[in-house]
Amino acid sequence: MATQRIAVVTGGNKGIGFAIVKELCAKFEGRVYLTARDEGRGATAVQELKKLGLSPHFHQLDIDNQDSINKFAAYIKNTYGGLDVLVNNAAIAYKRAATEPFGEQAENTIRVNYFGTLAVCHALFPLLRPHARVCHVSSSCGHLSEICGDEPAAAQLRAKLSADTLTEDQLADLMNQFVEAAKDGTFRQKGWPGSTYVVSKVGVSALTRIQHRAFLSDPREDLVINNCHPGYVDTDMTSHKGPMSIEQGAVCPAYLALLPPNISEPRGAYLWHDKSVVDWTNKKPAPV
Ligand SMILES: NC(=O)c1ccc[n+]([C@@H]2O[C@H](COP(=O)([O-])OP(=O)(O)OC[C@H]3O[C@@H](n4cnc5c(N)ncnc54)[C@H](OP(=O)(O)O)[C@@H]3O)[C@@H](O)[C@H]2O)c1
Repeated sequence: MATQRIAVVTGGNKGIGFAIVKELCAKFEGRVYLTARDEGRGATAVQELKKLGLSPHFHQLDIDNQDSINKFAAYIKNTYGGLDVLVNNAAIAYKRAATEPFGEQAENTIRVNYFGTLAVCHALFPLLRPHARVCHVSSSCGHLSEICGDEPAAAQLRAKLSADTLTEDQLADLMNQFVEAAKDGTFRQKGWPGSTYVVSKVGVSALTRIQHRAFLSDPREDLVINNCHPGYVDTDMTSHKGPMSIEQGAVCPAYLALLPPNISEPRGAYLWHDKSVVDWTNKKPAPV
């Protein structure tokens, strides 16, 4: 079995994920897997990087498809026995002008961004090798203060989401409660905001803290997980309104993916695009 070090990026065919792959190809000592849900788009992206003299590898991975996740995890396990870096970058966001009912947007956004990311973790975390680094690409929208529906319900939600005792099952319940409230129109009175993307990213940021606590008691040495806001970036997701380039957006995720062995921090943290650690539970920095 091959013993190379392995890095995996989800949603690597375009946008920030593509630039993270590019950066890792240049700096990671090992094989970098550009994964994408669409084989054709993935192959085109790999060709583009090869033209730059880089050598990414490709595997199909749809984070919204358990069969695809299982196949990818089996491939990594059987080919390499484990992995060293995981960047959960893939996500969706409805446009402001989207006409789908809010409940439908909530169901799809939470399923892909929260439960899809979680499913990738469940499949790949058992394969992480000592000193592995995991980065979830969250958002400024994933800051806890974005849970700003009607008070006092919103404060109660923020307390639950930031509790040091929060479990994965409790967080899954909260995500599902939001989807139900989005469908029956009670989300604001129950404390939730009017953005499904916000709730999905707050979920990912809350999940980071739970997974960090689990890593602390993991028998594998020095597993480190963090999450970050990559900045407001010029991609399809922002309809190219973000001022930052995809390379600038990749800076913090790549930094977290490449944290050296046995660092004391950041661990379990929420970082801004300039690599600064931001207090997730209190005041949020200014935009961008
Ligand atoms: N751009 C910003 O300003 C900004 C700000 C804060 C946070 N973020 C976060 O940064 C990350 C990257 O965003 P971006 O702006 O680069 O977005 P993007 O250009 O829309 O790219 C999103 C990537 O995710 C992939 N994806 C979507 N659903 C997937 C699935 N089910 N399985 C696998 N891949 C899937 C897309 O693949 P397809 O090409 O097949 O659709 C694409 O490769 C996201 O997590 C986003 O929430 C972005």
